[in-house]
Amino acid sequence: MRRGRGALVPLATVAGGLALTACGGGPQSTLQTHGPAAERIADLWWLMFYIALATGVVTLALLGWAAFRPRRDWRPPTPESDRAPTRWILIGGVAFPAVVLSVVFVFVLSTLGALASPGDAALTVEVTGKQWWWEVKYPAGDDRTGTVRTANEIHVPAGQRVELLLTSDDVIHSFWAPGLNGKMDLIPGRQNRIWIQADTPGVYRGQCAEYCGLQHTHMGFRVIAHEPAAFAEWLAHLRQPAAPPQDSLARVGQQVFLSRACVLCHAVRGTGAHATAGPDLTHLASRLTLAAGTLPNTRGHLGGWIGNPQHIKPGNHMPRVPLSAAELEALLAYLQSLD
Ligand code: CUA
Repeated sequence: MRRGRGALVPLATVAGGLALTACGGGPQSTLQTHGPAAERIADLWWLMFYIALATGVVTLALLGWAAFRPRRDWRPPTPESDRAPTRWILIGGVAFPAVVLSVVFVFVLSTLGALASPGDAALTVEVTGKQWWWEVKYPAGDDRTGTVRTANEIHVPAGQRVELLLTSDDVIHSFWAPGLNGKMDLIPGRQNRIWIQADTPGVYRGQCAEYCGLQHTHMGFRVIAHEPAAFAEWLAHLRQPAAPPQDSLARVGQQVFLSRACVLCHAVRGTGAHATAGPDLTHLASRLTLAAGTLPNTRGHLGGWIGNPQHIKPGNHMPRVPLSAAELEALLAYLQSLD
């Protein structure tokens, strides 16, 4: 009876561990892969998991065997019985770990090699980390005059490798889209590279993975993969300046935007607003979220955000701009026209 119960403990531990890992879902799981780079990382993870599982099971079995084997009467030691402990240590403590760690090391090297270079990337996108949002640039032209900016969304063609050039304007951030690849730091004054490839069109969540200050948690982003033709259309649209406002309320809103503090930090291409401290708002209405994934991009949330950004994301660099209700109404109409 005592022996039966003892064997249940390691079994329950292993079963519990399996049940926990099996449910690894969610929008930001490294085990739900959406591209080749993340697949390589997940393969390595599963290899290490199964090795650890097997090692754990064997170790627990040996421990159980040592604890519960029938006691023998004491006998005087012999040369053979003196060597037995040394043999256990040499096999279990030296040879076995050396083999296991060598196997894992070889797989790690091969994974690192596969992730190192994008080869011939279809596209290069520049991503700059800022407290606390992501500036995303699509470079164009030798003199970069055609370069356009968006924020917190990286649109890519599905099924193609995209190289990301990463840097930071303030502190160290870390780019992490778990379904697409591992983490890469964004460091001020330095350019790091990572590549991503989403196999199918879709929206893949990412997150800053290095503590970077008060609003580190609210520094999310989306990778949005389109069919290649749809991506080309999207990029062509991004390169367009903002369409002039059509209705009178939006026209008033544009005047509010251009005459208040908004214009000191934000740009809307096609107008006199060229500032780069905050996100480029040229096609703001086409984005999925506001404030780096903090809020859905709806009229109500946009109004709440402009009304009091410090309430929603305390410590962020957007100040509260005093506006009358009528001005806010017009400004919202203008910003929502920027699709
Ligand atoms: Cu940026 Cu954490």
